[in-house]
Amino acid sequence: MSILIKNARVITASEDYRADLYIEGETVHSIGKDLSVNADQVIDATGKIVFPGGIDPHVHLQMPFMGTWSSDSYETGTLAALHGGTTTVIDFVLQTQGKSLRHALDAWRGRSDGNCYGDYSFHIAVTDFNADTRKEIVQMIKEEGITSFKTFMAYKGALMIDDGQMVDLMQEVKRHGGLVTVHATNGDMIDKLIAKHRAEGKLSPLYHYFSQPEVTEAEASARFADMAHYTGVSAYIVHLTCQGALDAVRRATLRNQRVLVETCIQYLLLDASLYEQNPDGAKWVMSPPLRQKKDQEALWAGINQGLVQVVGTDHCPFNWEQKMMGKDDFSKIPNGHPAIEHRMELLWSEGVHTGRISPNKYVELTSANAAQIFGMYPKKGCIAPGSDADLVIFDPNEQHALSAKTHHMNVDYSAYEGWKVQGKCKTVILRGRVAIDNGKVGVEKGYGAFVGR
Ligand code: URP
Ligand code: ZN
Ligand code: ZN
Repeated sequence: MSILIKNARVITASEDYRADLYIEGETVHSIGKDLSVNADQVIDATGKIVFPGGIDPHVHLQMPFMGTWSSDSYETGTLAALHGGTTTVIDFVLQTQGKSLRHALDAWRGRSDGNCYGDYSFHIAVTDFNADTRKEIVQMIKEEGITSFKTFMAYKGALMIDDGQMVDLMQEVKRHGGLVTVHATNGDMIDKLIAKHRAEGKLSPLYHYFSQPEVTEAEASARFADMAHYTGVSAYIVHLTCQGALDAVRRATLRNQRVLVETCIQYLLLDASLYEQNPDGAKWVMSPPLRQKKDQEALWAGINQGLVQVVGTDHCPFNWEQKMMGKDDFSKIPNGHPAIEHRMELLWSEGVHTGRISPNKYVELTSANAAQIFGMYPKKGCIAPGSDADLVIFDPNEQHALSAKTHHMNVDYSAYEGWKVQGKCKTVILRGRVAIDNGKVGVEKGYGAFVGR
């Protein structure tokens, strides 16, 4: 199968030019002006932009969490991602405390393998670092292609590790050349505040926000950066939300340390005033919570200052009925919100179209940097001969509105209901096959492949 894309404006993390692209099999074969080749399919991209397929390095599909399961399966989640221009996702395997990493990986791959439309990879969350887990780190890296290890500084009793385990894990991961990522919030402080609010009968979604003030994230981010500096491990903070945490990262640069940072689309676009709605505020109950407008400004600035490298989603959807498990107590609302389908279009519309970021920065944030940080570059995250032909053909002139009535995620509300978006992912190509064309699906379940790193 071969595809010739004619008259494209090609945008990568570093370039912006007009060319034709010739795809043969799963990869980009050649790029040039007025290519004259015979192809099975010719796509005229006049007036459109072609950029690398998105990589969302933070999703939770079909994940057991807070007494229920995130509502998108690998099938529905990766298909929704493709509709929105994301061709690869990195999901999180969660170790069960007391059990092995292998046990968790087998369970996760049992759910994912053969069920994905789009490409996928895994981070593994180490929730119980001990002598046995230590031995598994090198196996995960060398045998399973999993090089990034997630840690939680919150969710005590289920996912959280203490600082001693963190330092031990960092040393082991460094020894084998991997990366430690973190959910950086102070779990003990948060648990205290949750208990206080519950004891005072303050149970609405707004108290989810008040239970995780900025200091809980700023403190944990600084502590994580310090431990990473001490051990010398490569470090990455997931879903960073606020000015205080970003300042901790900025301070780390003063000692020539680089702490990599991911924020998520919701933290750039939504703010904590949404929690004043009761019960609707439950739609945005996630951890860390949405912050203030000054934090959004700090994040946009942090992007352009090079402090924030990645915009993900932390896609972790729950249906309204699931959210209502916490109708009488915010602490029982399953944490997470749906966004896997909308990240690319929202970031273009609110970032590039508004002039906040350049088109090249957009590619950095949505694919190129994640590919480099997580060891998928130049297979993914760029447009070059030999790279996977993962491409989005994007119409910057088409406007549309987001709605639960039209989205493809398996969730019965939209966190962005009625939002007007400038620009649409018209055609999405994954490893040389047209996966989405004008909303029509061209690949089958199981086409999505595991990406070992
Ligand atoms: O609220 C969130 N973020 N849910 C998913 C789990 C996590 O902390 O990333
Ligand atoms: Zn988290
Ligand atoms: Zn997450």
